[in-house]
Amino acid sequence: MKLKILGAGSIGNHLSNASRRLGWPVDLVDTDPKALERTRTSIYPSRYGRWDEAIRLFAAADAPVGGYDLICIGTPPDSHVPLARAAIAEKPKAILVEKPLCGPDLAGAQELADEAKAAGVAVFVGYDHVVGQASRLAADLLRGGDFGEVATIDVEFREYWGGIFAAHPWLAGPWESYLGFWQRGGGASGEHSHAANLWQHFALAAGLGRVVEVQATLDFVKDDKVNYDRLCMMHLRTERGVAGRCVQDVVTQPLRKWARIQGANAYLEWSCGREPGVDAVYAGLPGKAAIEHKVSKTRPDDFIEELNHVAAALAGDAAASPIALARGLDTMLVVAAAHLSSQTGRRVRIDYSKGCRPAALAVD
Ligand SMILES: NC(=O)c1ccc[n+]([C@@H]2O[C@H](COP(=O)([O-])OP(=O)(O)OC[C@H]3O[C@@H](n4cnc5c(N)ncnc54)[C@H](O)[C@@H]3O)[C@@H](O)[C@H]2O)c1
Repeated sequence: MKLKILGAGSIGNHLSNASRRLGWPVDLVDTDPKALERTRTSIYPSRYGRWDEAIRLFAAADAPVGGYDLICIGTPPDSHVPLARAAIAEKPKAILVEKPLCGPDLAGAQELADEAKAAGVAVFVGYDHVVGQASRLAADLLRGGDFGEVATIDVEFREYWGGIFAAHPWLAGPWESYLGFWQRGGGASGEHSHAANLWQHFALAAGLGRVVEVQATLDFVKDDKVNYDRLCMMHLRTERGVAGRCVQDVVTQPLRKWARIQGANAYLEWSCGREPGVDAVYAGLPGKAAIEHKVSKTRPDDFIEELNHVAAALAGDAAASPIALARGLDTMLVVAAAHLSSQTGRRVRIDYSKGCRPAALAVD
């Protein structure tokens, strides 16, 4: 695989490293020369030991066009869709767009899907948790059906975002980034939308269908510098009528990234980083000893696993991937519905037949 990565920030470095660890060539591109310099002299060497001279760095205006297998969009969320739509014209085999796919206005999201389909370019969205080993095990257990009828799903991604700013020492605070602005895809609803995505993933694995109702309460921080939700609490209901809860926040410390699925016969718990460097799945199954499965991994492993998944999906049925664009669009509809529900104080229904557009959302 030959990669071009747009955005030499935190994720651009992770994906560059993962690609090099797989032996794949990388061109890394940024509009900001300071970001390229920081990558070479600071971020990459401090994270991975030393700079890798094989990574070619380009200012955006000088970046090569065409000839790539995979183009990764690792820029702020409000630039994802325009950059992904432009990348389609380069005819890569695939595009990997970071999460969240876009802002809650859903601008251009359906057009991206339509254009990618017409061009035959596979698009993935970087919800890497669902392709991690622990989530794969949990989803396989759910598909096995031993849990009985699922009564509810609970997912929480509650994490004070100090860690994100520690990884971005050049930012003075959320006001210097998209993170401090919900309309740009920041705040808890966008930044921790891994939780909504995981909820949807487990609901599909359990045969509960897609999310069709969202009732949400968001808590905003708004002053002359920022405007973001620090808490996004969602009640969700699926096509099969099963209800559950999903909480995302940027205030909880120590962090809790956790899911629980309660079936008629048994329960399943998924936990990310419960101990440092360990993900875990616990399952109480009928007639069997409870399963405790621990997965030791490093942060770089997450992205190696994600790129390996993309390569394997391209060799098979890319549209069936849990990180296929369709899943990322579904998650954006839930995030957009959460904002609309919070604004109106009402329940919001999602009609998928209208595409990933504001028209798909109806206030009850
Ligand atoms: N899946 C994960 O675990 C994970 C982890 C980190 C970040 N992310 C996601 O990645 C995205 C970027 O986050 P980040 O922390 O790396 O941000 P960042 O601010 O560290 O880096 C973004 C970079 O993109 C550059 N950029 C902006 N517009 C550009 C353009 N048109 N072309 C090329 N470069 C451009 C900026 O100059 C900046 O250097 C976000 O959507 C974030 O949610 C995902």
